[in-house]
Amino acid sequence: MKNYILLIFFVLNFGFVVNAQEWTVPAEEAEKVSPYIFEDDFVTDGEILYENSCTSCHGTPTENNFMPFSPPPGDPASEQFQSQPDGALFYKIQKGRGIMPVFENILAEEEIWSLIAYFRSFNKEYVQPEFDYGDEVLSELKFDLDFDENIDKLVVKVFSDGEVEEGIDVSAFVVGMFGKFPLGKTKTNELGLAYLDVDPSLPGDKQGNLDILVRVRKGYAIEKATTSMKIAEPAQQTSLIEGRHLWSTGDKAPVWLLVTFLLIVVGIWGVILYIIFGLFRLKKIG
Ligand code: HEC
Repeated sequence: MKNYILLIFFVLNFGFVVNAQEWTVPAEEAEKVSPYIFEDDFVTDGEILYENSCTSCHGTPTENNFMPFSPPPGDPASEQFQSQPDGALFYKIQKGRGIMPVFENILAEEEIWSLIAYFRSFNKEYVQPEFDYGDEVLSELKFDLDFDENIDKLVVKVFSDGEVEEGIDVSAFVVGMFGKFPLGKTKTNELGLAYLDVDPSLPGDKQGNLDILVRVRKGYAIEKATTSMKIAEPAQQTSLIEGRHLWSTGDKAPVWLLVTFLLIVVGIWGVILYIIFGLFRLKKIG
């Protein structure tokens, strides 16, 4: 009797586990493809988002160090993720399930696509499916960039098909040696202007230049450019051979150091020669 109950329990539980692992996505959702091109910039956006919102459970892609939940979150670089169409991943990120949070109201569609772009950057065989823009006319975007020293803000003036327009998305980043640092995201006002804060204590190069990447987006149209602007603190970088270091060239070392160094070298060679000479003498006597 007890065994029967156990068996029934086992079967039920087994069924539950199998069910739990199958996460079906409606066919029309799975067919969805990204209107945004998965280029380097977009991948970096996804990487930043991933580190802020997903690493805690999914771990570092390719390292399989996700949290041991059941069902497991999985590694975005894995076959399990990569074998699914973009639309299926998109759907799962939007809708969530169990421990996997619902991101529908937290992340914009563009942000979710950038996460998928980041996932696909680990898959060398991936070819991005083409999006059908249909009758959608992409606006021609242009922008001017300025820095207002009085308020420490970047001022971006955006033109859509030659006209200023309210509500166009503007984001800016500082481009550094190790990636992009987001300055912020905002929308243009009725004068077509968007203001973004820049911390003037950010380290620039020796002249105080910062490389600022600005991106504006309206619908599926994206325009971006990187501009070098003199708005930061000049960096106080001294190169390794500029100071007075032992490994620097001889003319930068003080005289006492050169003399001491020479005396030590001469002294050591003296001792070595003395020992060799002594050994020869021993042999002769022997
Ligand atoms: C609190 C932990 C947690 C966080 C944070 C989290 N996930 Fe998940 N995720 C899970 C778990 C657990 C699953 C498995 C859910 C299931 O199968 O029922 C999962 C599943 C998924 C899947 C489906 C995987 C598959 O095998 O089909 C995707 C895609 C995904 N997560 C993407 C993300 C992205 C992108 C983020 C960040 C924006 C994120 N997750 C943040 C826990 C998390």
